Order: sequence, then C-alpha cells, then structure tokens
Amino acid sequence: MECQNLLVEKYGGVALVTVNRPQVLNALRSSVIGELLELFEHLSWDDTVKVIVLTGSGDKAFVAGADIAEMAGFTAQQALTFARTGQKLVSFIGTMDKPVIAAVNGYALGGGMELALACDFIYASETAKMGLPEVTLGIMPGFGGSQKFARLRGRNRANELIFTGRILTAAEAKEWGIVNAVFPSGELIARTLETAGKIAGNGLLGVTYAKHVIKRGLDMDEENGMGYEAVLFASLFATADQHEGMNAFLEKRKPVFSGS
Ligand code: CAA
Repeated sequence: MECQNLLVEKYGGVALVTVNRPQVLNALRSSVIGELLELFEHLSWDDTVKVIVLTGSGDKAFVAGADIAEMAGFTAQQALTFARTGQKLVSFIGTMDKPVIAAVNGYALGGGMELALACDFIYASETAKMGLPEVTLGIMPGFGGSQKFARLRGRNRANELIFTGRILTAAEAKEWGIVNAVFPSGELIARTLETAGKIAGNGLLGVTYAKHVIKRGLDMDEENGMGYEAVLFASLFATADQHEGMNAFLEKRKPVFSGS
C-alpha cells in the first residue's frame, strides 16, 4: 500500500514501521493516523509478518504528539472526531493478534506516548523523553492516555504525570515501569529487532493466545482468567505448531513453525 508519511521495511518475519515526518518531530496529523490505521490493518492480514516494531524517523523523536498546528483550528466537534480516530488506532494496535513493540528513540509526548503505550511493550533509547504534557496546551490526553496510563502504572502516578505535564527521562520511565529496557541510541533499533526476531521464531498462535489471555485476563477475576488460560492452552494441542514444537524438542532439532 502507498504511504506518504510512513516507511515500512521487512526483516524476516518482522515489519519495522517508521513514522516519517522528521521536520515536525513525527507529529500525528489526522492523515498520518489514517495511514497508520490502514497500514496496521494491512499488516494484520500479511502472513509474512509475525511481529511489528514501531518507531519514529530521525534521532530526535518517536512522535512528539498530535499535530498542534492542525489541532489549533479544531472546533470541539472536530476535536471529538480526532480523539475518537486516535483512540481507534490505539485500540486497534492493542487488540492486534500480532505483537507490536515500540522503539522509542526520542520524544514520545502526548499522542506519541499514547501510541507507545498501545504497543505490547516499549524499549527506549537513552535519549528518550516521555510524557503527557497536554495540560500545558490547555487540553488533556485524548488518545487513551488517561485510561491506559492509570491502568498500567496506577492512579497516583497518572495524576502526577498528567496534572503536571512532567516529561520523564528514559531512566525515569524505566524506573516507573513504563519501558522494559533502555539502550544506547545507536543500538535501539538493532536490539528491538533482535527481540522481535526471537518472538517471530516462536509458534505464532501460542504467542497470540498468550497476548489475548494476558490482556483480557487483567479484566477478569483470577479464577475466570485461569479458566480462559486452560481453554486456550488446550486448543493449541490441535495445531501443527504444537506437534512441530514438541517433536523438534524430542528429536533434538530446531522447530520450524508454520503458524498453523
Ligand atoms: N505538533 C506540531 N509540530 C510540532 C510538534 C507537534 N506536536 N512538536 C514539534 N513540532 C515542530 C515544531 O513546531 C518545530 O517546527 P518548526 O521547525 O517549523 O518551528 C519542529 O517540530 C521542531 O520542534 P522544536 O523546534 O520545538 O524542537 P525543540 O527541540 O526545541 O523541542 C519539543 C522539542 C520539546 C518536543 C517541542 O517541540 C514540543 O514541546 N513539542 C510539542 C509537544 C507536545 O506538547 N505534545 C503533545 C501534543 S497534544 C496531544 O498529543 C493531544 C493528544 O493526546 C491526542
């Protein structure tokens, strides 16, 4: 598919998606959000892609937020549509069957941090800076930040981050449990692709079902979550990948998974 503002490269079963508007620190115009939605939907159908890595172009920003130049002229009705479209994107990423990893290579602010939070986990460069500074513009988070951050790190941390508009360094984001690992800038993409490649080499259905049960299990009580886990566990015994994975172990060879 044709994208004006996104780059897509493939490394084996991994697609590296780069938001490419470096002149405005990869800010999200509505057209970019539309392209991201279309691309992620396309990638979810692409059997050659097993894992997606999302990053920003240049060495300064992942995504510095929603595009302030576009938002400045919005009516309240247009702002509602804009927020709903951004939320559709973060919800789509969050419920994709394939894992999505954010490689935060600089500023991830406002809608940029919300985009990173939609991913299954976040790796960051030492120069990354993350925050939800919308109140400094007289608004508040609109792409799910108030909901996702409070669920991820708790109400009190969400309150502090959002009420102050404070920007966290990579080390602080790691300490707050927002990012899983911090790498030197020049190593971030290679290290993220390395992890993505490891995931892509595993049985895809096992990874997908684990993703679903971890996410949905958090909204269930433990007993129901256990029941859901047991049913998904059992259903994997009807797949070719279970036969291949276990036979390969017993035959002392590397498994070759088909994703079926
Ligand atoms: N929207 C539009 N343009 C942006 C932008 C944004 N979010 N962030 C940066 N830019 C543009 C700047 O206007 C500038 O353009 P010009 O060269 O044409 O002037 C260019 O990118 C480079 O930015 P700076 O010169 O400002 O770079 P800096 O290094 O001095 O500062 C920064 C970097 C601290 C990230 C600063 O650009 C900044 O504060 N950006 C805005 C961050 C922000 O408030 N994001 C939240 C947006 S609201 C939101 O996202 C709502 C939501 O929840 C959906």
